[in-house]
Amino acid sequence: MSANSEQHNAINWQQLHEKAQQAHDNAYAPYSNFKVGAALIGENDELFTGCNVENASYGLTVCAERNCISTAVGQGVRNVKALVVFTAQKKLTSPCGACRQVIAEFMTQDAMIGLVNHLGDSQLWRVSDLLPDAFTTQSLKDADKNLNSTVQEKGQS
Ligand code: THU
Repeated sequence: MSANSEQHNAINWQQLHEKAQQAHDNAYAPYSNFKVGAALIGENDELFTGCNVENASYGLTVCAERNCISTAVGQGVRNVKALVVFTAQKKLTSPCGACRQVIAEFMTQDAMIGLVNHLGDSQLWRVSDLLPDAFTTQSLKDADKNLNSTVQEKGQS
């Protein structure tokens, strides 16, 4: 068994499913009526949940995944081992683009995300498949340190 699948098997997906479902029940989605719940497990095996929170000023809405991750980060989590998204939708709900970017900040590329619904359907996605070639902290570390001065010099000539 590879290290990856060992890590994957160590996750209690059923527990995450139940927690995400509970969070879903608390979702505040009076405008879209599209309730979402999320649950994650941090590096120390602690569980965190989040739901989508909408606002009369629509653009201020925050998705369940990002609320869940922000709650965990506020408690010191820096590495999310697994995350589950629950909706009561026949078609499983996949994280939006903004959430994929935030997921890429706190989950490794080979970590898994579970999508589940009220019918018991489920699907697992690898982070790297949800957001290939992600822009991450490594992209900043790898940045060409001379680029800005080169651009500046060119601008002056
Ligand atoms: N929503 C989430 O919570 N997560 C997603 O990844 C997709 C969208 C929420 C935001 C909004 O409250 C509602 O679903 C409809 O877009």
